[in-house]
This record gives sequence, structure tokens and C-alpha cells, in this order.
Amino acid sequence: MKPLIIAHRGASAHAPENTMAAFDLAIRQKADGIEFDVWKCGSGEIVVTHNRQTQALSGTAGDLQTMTLKQLRKLDFGRHKDPKFRGERIPTLDEVLDLAHGLELINIEIKGTELRSRGIELDVAEKILRHKLLRRVVVSSFNPTILARLQDLNPAIRIGLLLYEKSPMPLRRGWSAKLLKPFSIHPSFALLKKKFVELAHRKDQKVIVWTINDSAQLETCIQDGVDAMITDDPAWMYDALHNAP
Ligand code: G3P
Ligand code: MG
Repeated sequence: MKPLIIAHRGASAHAPENTMAAFDLAIRQKADGIEFDVWKCGSGEIVVTHNRQTQALSGTAGDLQTMTLKQLRKLDFGRHKDPKFRGERIPTLDEVLDLAHGLELINIEIKGTELRSRGIELDVAEKILRHKLLRRVVVSSFNPTILARLQDLNPAIRIGLLLYEKSPMPLRRGWSAKLLKPFSIHPSFALLKKKFVELAHRKDQKVIVWTINDSAQLETCIQDGVDAMITDDPAWMYDALHNAP
């Protein structure tokens, strides 16, 4: 079976990351799923964007954890990519789930490295249930505390453990397995090894790799038998998987 194509922050190679334009494009480019990043803003809504600080993507300085949704909505999250995307607003989790409900895999990544998460797990869990997306969503995080809390709240919610080169050794070696029962493991490409995939599959876990943007990486993923690949450019990946000789 071919691995699933998951659009990283939407089709972020061609549209501003984590915006409705990027998610809409990913769907049109035949991605099987989308990945996006979430935070809880100052007024309590769950918003979709990568950085807690708004400066880099909107050009206006701010900390979204102290800003209301109304304040955040005034910022332009499209212009940094290209003037033609001027006016793209920060989406809410509800809006993205409404758009993405037909996709095979919806990967919500909860951001935040602090121990206190301001209750974001409860909000995310409630949205997944309200949108009836239990079977399509996986919630990933680099923060194992967030995943453990989510698992505690509702063991039916699928959690995904994000790993990269600097992740603590206990997580990379699976020593947390007694506490965390992830549905999937999400290694960076640098951590990918065939043995790693085989071990995960023996434990009935899926392997979702990020971020795959060239043919050599794609070939390795296929050889290693991964289940899904997160890419900035789903159109390129679709072509490489389905149309290449
Ligand atoms: O979920 C994979 C990837 O998105 C993790 O890193 O920084 O792009 O959110 P980042
Ligand atoms: Mg992410």
C-alpha cells in the first residue's frame, strides 16, 4: 500500500502555512490528510498557527496566549508568503475541522513546551468529539505531558508522539511505552530507520514521517515501509507516487 500524503501546515510550499488557503489547496492537490499546529489564545479559542509569537507570520508583534481571537483576526497571515494571499486570517480549529472532515487523516499538532497547557487538551478533545472525527484525527505533540493528559481524558483519542534529533532519549527509545500508548510515532526524516518502522509495526503503531520534500527522501520512506509522509508540497508527492514511471 502507498503511504498517505499529509500536507504539512497545509500545502505550505504554495500557500501561506496554516491558513484556510493552504488547507483548501491541499485538498485540491489530492492530499490524503493535513497536518497543522494549534495553540489556545488569550480569549480561550483554539487557533491554528505555528508560532506563539505572531511577528514572523503576520508582521505584527504579539503573544497569542495573551491576545483575544478578535485581536488575532485583525492580523494578516497571508501577506508574508505572497501579496496575492493578503487578507488570510488565522483560522480556528473549528473552521479547519469543518473544511477537513472528509480527509482520511487529520493531524492536529498541539504546540507548547511548558508543563502547564492551560487546558488545551480538554478543548481539543471536545472538538474532535463534537465534529465526530475520532476515527480520522491523530493528535501529535513533542510534549509527552500533553499527550499523557489527553490519553487520560479520553483513551479513544488517537495520539502521536513527535520525535526529532534532540528529543529526550527515553522518548526516542520508547521507555515511556508504559505510560503512553501512541497510535502513531512521528519521527523526523533524520531519525528514520527501517528497524524503527518494523519495531513500531510490531507494536501496532503507525509511522508518520516529516518533512519529506525530495525524491531521495521519498524513496527511503517507501523502502522503509512508512505509513504516511508529511510534505510541504502534496502536488509534487502525488505526482511522484502516482504518475512517475
Ligand atoms: O508534525 C510534524 C512537524 O510539523 C513538526 O514540526 O515545527 O513543523 O511543527 P513543526
Ligand atoms: Mg507541525
